[in-house]
Amino acid sequence: MKRIVVRRPGGHAALELVEEPDPSPGPGQVRVRAAAAGVNYADVVVREGYYEAAKGLYPLTPGFEFAGVVDALGPGASGFREGDRVFGFTRFGGYSSVQLAEPARLRAMPAGWDFADCAALPAVHFTAHHALVSVAHAAPGEVLLVHSAAGGVGTALLQQARILGCRTVGVVGSEAKTAVAREFGADAVVVRGPRLWEEIDRAAPDGLDAIFDANGVTTLRPGFERLRLGGRLVVYGFAEIMPRGRRPFLPELAWNWLRVPRFSPLELTAANRAVMGFNVVFLTEKAELAKAGFDAIAAWAGEGRLKKVPVTAFPVERAADAHRALESGRTVGKLVLTF
Ligand SMILES: NC(=O)c1ccc[n+]([C@@H]2O[C@H](COP(=O)([O-])OP(=O)(O)OC[C@H]3O[C@@H](n4cnc5c(N)ncnc54)[C@H](OP(=O)(O)O)[C@@H]3O)[C@@H](O)[C@H]2O)c1
Repeated sequence: MKRIVVRRPGGHAALELVEEPDPSPGPGQVRVRAAAAGVNYADVVVREGYYEAAKGLYPLTPGFEFAGVVDALGPGASGFREGDRVFGFTRFGGYSSVQLAEPARLRAMPAGWDFADCAALPAVHFTAHHALVSVAHAAPGEVLLVHSAAGGVGTALLQQARILGCRTVGVVGSEAKTAVAREFGADAVVVRGPRLWEEIDRAAPDGLDAIFDANGVTTLRPGFERLRLGGRLVVYGFAEIMPRGRRPFLPELAWNWLRVPRFSPLELTAANRAVMGFNVVFLTEKAELAKAGFDAIAAWAGEGRLKKVPVTAFPVERAADAHRALESGRTVGKLVLTF
């Protein structure tokens, strides 16, 4: 099998491709020969060494998701047969051509979806599902603001918000991304620029019920001020702390960290607004939560209620190029590695 190993956090050269004998599935495990693995912005942060949940785990294979074919079953494994086409999630280890997985972390691939489409589903859709359903409790008719709306999580939020009956305003970093945000369900799209908040006010004149923000620095405070009574600011990333397209310098990280706004409980109470945060990587171990999210995603994909996002594929040998692309901030949809 082939897999990417990060022995020590670092630049792109830290993504080392290794070849090893295939492992055998243990009791209850299903072995999957992966054809594709999803790439997420979090993997960049893992490679850089700043991802909280990865601390102390190096050498580490990054990656949270994959799709492929079941090729062996461990003793007592049930639910799948050799030859089944499946997709699944994992807490790290995704950039590998062989996966050993518990059946609960796998689902059958929906008809009409290929390996790359399916490897692109679990992480962003589980994140979006958790954000909308478990954290924000988004209700039909609510008006939601989605930042980075043409990206992986962004397009997933737009699609699921529409399924839930919400209206969405998407924010994108460039004009070139507006068509994608519209295609995936944004009712209005705003390009980030000097008039960002004026345009958001025009698109949502009565304010916002919930905001989904992985920028993490400059947009939090102005967003909070536009929440209606009972509004929720859901924070799930801090991409703005990292410079675009290059490795950060430590003092720069520290300065950006200091710029993250702080919200006092007194202020939240008086304003009747909430600031909420989560990281699904810590939640995949909560079996019932993971099951609810993964079941919803697999069902919606199977029923044709989720559209396939644009996927850009890189052979695993070019994992560094996939990271470069994500760091540029110019990608739309999802990136996958192929084996
Ligand atoms: N907490 C969780 O559980 C969780 C789970 C999954 C993902 N996330 C976070 O969600 C965000 C989106 O993840 P994704 O994998 O779907 O990525 P993505 O949205 O496909 O790509 C990242 C996007 O973020 C924007 N961005 C803002 N600052 C950036 C920077 N300094 N460098 C590069 N891009 C920057 C860019 O879009 P625009 O310029 O169009 O805004 C870029 O296209 C990431 O911050 C990730 O860490 C959190």
